[in-house]
Amino acid sequence: MTIIAKGLAGVTVGETAISTVGKAGAGLTYRGYSIQDLARHATFEEVAYLLIYGKLPNVSELNAYQERLAKLRELPPPVCQVLETLPMSTHPMDVLRTGASMIGSLEPEGENGRGAAYVADRLIASMTSMLGYWHRYAHRRQRVDTQSDETTLAGHFLRLMNDAPPIETARRTLDTIFVLYAEHEFNASTFTGRVVTSTLADTYSAVVAAIGALRGPLHGGANEAAMELIASFETPQEAEKSIKHMLDARRLIMGFGHRVYKNGDPRSDIVKELARQLSYESGNTMYFEISESIENVIMREKGLFPNLDFYSATAYHLCGIPTVMFTPLFAVSRTSGWVAHVIEQRDDNSLIRPNADYTGPPAQEFVELQGR
Ligand code: COA
Repeated sequence: MTIIAKGLAGVTVGETAISTVGKAGAGLTYRGYSIQDLARHATFEEVAYLLIYGKLPNVSELNAYQERLAKLRELPPPVCQVLETLPMSTHPMDVLRTGASMIGSLEPEGENGRGAAYVADRLIASMTSMLGYWHRYAHRRQRVDTQSDETTLAGHFLRLMNDAPPIETARRTLDTIFVLYAEHEFNASTFTGRVVTSTLADTYSAVVAAIGALRGPLHGGANEAAMELIASFETPQEAEKSIKHMLDARRLIMGFGHRVYKNGDPRSDIVKELARQLSYESGNTMYFEISESIENVIMREKGLFPNLDFYSATAYHLCGIPTVMFTPLFAVSRTSGWVAHVIEQRDDNSLIRPNADYTGPPAQEFVELQGR
């Protein structure tokens, strides 16, 4: 009898040199560096370079990389035109999916020396512009310049969104969240990208497919759902009572649990601390208190812990970022990890094509339609 691994849970389907997730004695690492060290000391640009080019940059490499990303932020006019046709009700994940696909048709991989690393840099840089450009056009009919003199992508995104220099705490917080979201081994969207790559398709196609996989609430969409949940309560007491009812009704609480981590998500501790600091610095502690009360009741009742998506919701919110942008920002950051996996998959490719047990009807006779 075939053993079916539903959701591929616990199945090892390949090797990777990019990251470890929950590995005994190592925890979460990107190319051997611990997430704690990277979050504390590295910028997102350093981490993206590490993932895509395989090593941390030295100072001159980092400066050159930042300049390169700054140049690649600009959107080609046809992309702006396409984004302008998207209605205000469009989810920004669809903006990214559409914009990434459009850039892929204007600057195809394989032409003019463009390889996977070019596609990664181009998309990471221009996705922040796509979000800002579309947001300002859809909501205020403004056509913004997609170049800015901000050094970091976090700063560039915040400047485009708000039409003002970013507040330093918000910029730093977003930069750290980008570091935390950049890579996570064979998660659903990365695996999707690897499946697409295994057919020898181009990098843009892998990223566009990965954006689709990230969108759902069981994966990247959980941070938006977590924010909606937190914002639906006015006090920690109300949250505690309601969450208990939801658990009794066996409802899923977004932002909790994880397929791999069963004893805690190391990224959650880091982002929780960021959310705590922002709350106390801004004097706006209610969402943080509500979040802690939700965390406590879920731990007490189910033994489940928050994943990265739970406290990142409060942190983003306190940076003034609209909820619909949470998952798209995850996509911007994770594009570095996705493309690192595209490159790795190509280095030792084999078509990914598993089997299924057939449960449909037995063989039946085909009866041709009469009188058509
Ligand atoms: N809220 C309530 N109960 C949860 C839960 C959650 N967020 N996550 C898991 N559980 C429960 C399951 O219902 C199941 O209970 P049961 O044994 O009584 O049936 C048990 O915990 C084990 O969960 P399981 O669904 O087997 O875990 P999984 O590995 O298949 O799923 C997730 C992992 C991430 C899909 C799941 O935890 C989830 O849906 N979380 C919410 C979405 C989320 O935050 N996604 C972002 C992940 S980073």
